[in-house]
Parts: sequence; structure tokens; C-alpha cells
Amino acid sequence: MRAQYILGTDSAAAQRLRVLDEVYHQTTVTLLERAGLREGWRCADIGCGTGLVALTMAKHVGPAGRVIGVDEAGTFVDVARQSAANRKLKNTEFVSGDAYLPPLPHAQFDLVYARCLLSHLDEPLRALHAMTALARPGGCVVIDDIDCGGVFAHPETPVLMRHLDLYQRAVRLNGGDPLMGRKLPRLCRKTGLTDVRYEIVRPAEPTKAVKRLYPLTLACLRPAIVEAKLATADEVDALVATLNAMADDPTATVSSCPMVQVWARKS
Ligand SMILES: C[S@@+](CC[C@H](N)C(=O)[O-])C[C@H]1O[C@@H](n2cnc3c(N)ncnc32)[C@H](O)[C@@H]1O
Repeated sequence: MRAQYILGTDSAAAQRLRVLDEVYHQTTVTLLERAGLREGWRCADIGCGTGLVALTMAKHVGPAGRVIGVDEAGTFVDVARQSAANRKLKNTEFVSGDAYLPPLPHAQFDLVYARCLLSHLDEPLRALHAMTALARPGGCVVIDDIDCGGVFAHPETPVLMRHLDLYQRAVRLNGGDPLMGRKLPRLCRKTGLTDVRYEIVRPAEPTKAVKRLYPLTLACLRPAIVEAKLATADEVDALVATLNAMADDPTATVSSCPMVQVWARKS
């Protein structure tokens, strides 16, 4: 059965993607630079959400380049188009479409990218093949995806662990894989990509974004958790309140979720 994206596509979900980008923006830029992103390149961002990475790529490729973002969520595509229009970008386009069958030409892109998409899909290998088909021979396929293992907090925070447990169970029930990150390099080799390289990053910063991402994520996941009877709505609300208090506590040390970054070449 086709997995539906379970974190929602409303304004709260869009706000969550803004905070996700606050946490991972710099590491994503470094990844894209490592993959060689430069002026004039044609790029595709699959599962682009509200387009935050696509807009970053648009700056790097300049007027001679082109970036196309694809997402199945019409509300996110609308937000992305509006953001591109606000920035008067002429080199960026956003289209509705399925990651398994992106409505884009094959073998045309210098770089094909996805962030936090494959971990939500029940057929990640199929999606990776579809991404690879879009890259030109010699082009790059670049992935950022999370791995929920290895998150810690000090002092120990059982509520954070309960949240991670609920997150992982909800994603798995939906056909996704919350430990996708560690599997990416092998998955890329299986797709036939060559020169597969990877890095594991776990940003920390002085702002509260790392800590705020946890309650925002749980709040977005609330309908899926309640529908699957993993917890009651009251329990989720109480967890969100406690996670918000943790985010407000400047003395709590909380790690972000590890992000595994892979860049590889289509031969
Ligand atoms: C966690 S969000 C990440 C969004 C964006 N890549 C970012 O980093 O801000 C996952 C995105 O994948 C999209 N998505 C999930 N399944 C999809 C599919 N089968 N085809 C296209 N988009 C999909 C969702 O709508 C959502 O926008």
C-alpha cells in the first residue's frame, strides 16, 4: 500500500519545515557544495516540501541555472511558488508530482536531491531509481535523511525518548523507516550509483531550533498517533507541553537527530 506522508501539510507542518531548515540549512549547503553544486547547473529537488532547499539551490545556480521542485502536497507546492515569486526568482519552478514517477525529463539534471523523503516512503529503492533516472550521465544524486538512533539529552528526558518511540512506531506503521539514514549508502550502491560518499551530521546551535523541532514534530504527528491508537490525544498534548518546556530550558542539552548525507554519481 502507498504510504501517505504522516506529518501533515497544513500551516503547522509548513512551520515545522521552516524549523527543520533552521536546524539543517548549513549542513545541507555544505553537502550540496561537496557534491559540486555551481552556477548554471540544472537541479531537481524531489519531495521539496515548501521549497526551502530548492530556493537555496536557486541562489547557487544563478540565472543561468534552473531548479525544479516536486512534491505531492499541493499546499506545500503553493507555498514554495509564493516564496519563489516573493524573491522574484525566474530560475525556479515547483510542480505537483509523485516521487515514484516525477513529472520531469530523464537524464537532464546535473544534480537530483531529496531531504527527509525516503524515510517516509514504503519503496525507497524505487524512488531512488526514479531520482537516478532524472540525472544526466555523470550527474549527482544527493540525499539528506534522518536516522533516529543516537538522540540524547542531558539531564535524561524520558519524555523525549517516549516521543522518539512514538515517532518511530508511527513512521513504521506507515511503511516508512525512521532509521533510513544508515541504510542510504548501501541503497545508493544498489541503485547502481558509483563513487558513493557519505557524512553523518548532527547540528547543534545556540538558538532553540534543535529543541523546538521535537514538540513541533510530535504535534504534527498527533492525528496519525491517535488514529493508530499508539497514544491518546491527551497523552500527546501532555508530551508536547513537556517538550516545549524542555525547549525553553537553557540548561538542558539536547542533540538533534543525526542526518546522514550521501552524494554519488550516475555513471
Ligand atoms: C519531511 S518533508 C521534507 C520536505 C523538504 N524536502 C525539506 O527538507 O524541507 C517530506 C516531504 O515529502 C513529500 N512526500 C512524501 N511522499 C511523497 C511522494 N510519494 N511523492 C512526492 N512527495 C512526497 C511530503 O509531501 C513532504 O513535503
